[in-house]
Amino acid sequence: MSPRKVIIDTDPGQDDAVAILLAFASPDELEVLGITAVAGNVPLAFTEKNARIVCELAGKPDTPVFAGCDHPLSRPLVTAEYVHGKTGLDGPNLPDPTMALQEKHAVDFIIETFRNKPEKTVSICPLGPLTNIASALLKAPDIASRVEEIIMMGGAYFEVGNITPAAEFNIYVDPEAADIVFNSGIKLTVMPLDVTHKALVTADRNDAFRRLDTKVGIATADMTDFFERFDKEKYGSSGAPLHDPCVTAYLIRPELFSGRKINVTIETGSELTMGMTVADWWRVTERPANATFMNEIDADGFFALLTERLGRL
Ligand code: BDR
Ligand code: CA
Repeated sequence: MSPRKVIIDTDPGQDDAVAILLAFASPDELEVLGITAVAGNVPLAFTEKNARIVCELAGKPDTPVFAGCDHPLSRPLVTAEYVHGKTGLDGPNLPDPTMALQEKHAVDFIIETFRNKPEKTVSICPLGPLTNIASALLKAPDIASRVEEIIMMGGAYFEVGNITPAAEFNIYVDPEAADIVFNSGIKLTVMPLDVTHKALVTADRNDAFRRLDTKVGIATADMTDFFERFDKEKYGSSGAPLHDPCVTAYLIRPELFSGRKINVTIETGSELTMGMTVADWWRVTERPANATFMNEIDADGFFALLTERLGRL
């Protein structure tokens, strides 16, 4: 079978970086048509640069990288330097990229890709706030019926929130964009905190990355080490959740994950619960299902896959 064509939309972010590395390490399953950067964990000037750093780390400097929206649809940008460091990729010592940023705006690249490729042959993987995707849908509503699937990291039900008591970061930063995506009618698969908080980089798992003894393995261990300090202090957990790689792992080994097809509605009105993913897990409303909302992960299988694949780069 030929590899699935994907656009990765991202705000790197150490965990975004690992998600991208996993995609690059899996060319039999995934063909990365382009990387579109969005403002999120850190401002756009860092996220687009970080995306290029990751391409070069993976030995894929020919991958087109596009800069997208530098702020959410209708509110000021909220960032997360307190988790990811000033650059978003703090931890490893990686060189500045030499590959050029594409001139085209990320939103136009997304629109053109979906218009030019045969219907439902390209999927998109949002790993950050949904601003670029929503902007593309607003500018070109015709692409909605052409998207094969959106597979994204964002939201929470049982774990509720990480940026506020009620909301997960990616959705909270641009709830209006999330609302557009969740109402788009596009096939949607969601990796919420309920899954990613089970994908913890324990000391043993971090050691396994480092033992690869390659540029990619050591950089991954350094990135997850950095990320970990914050999460261990905050949650008292045995390691940092590796959020975004759950998306690319799902595309490679979907059987590692399970969830329910349910209705998920985004809170855009209440300041108290802004950005909450109101997930009808128990199917107590008549609202139609619009997303496959994951809940379980085979964490050992996930880390085995990740380590083995990163070893190929
Ligand atoms: C999400 O927010 C970011 O900090 C991570 O990169 C991930 O995409 C987790 O809430
Ligand atoms: Ca991210």
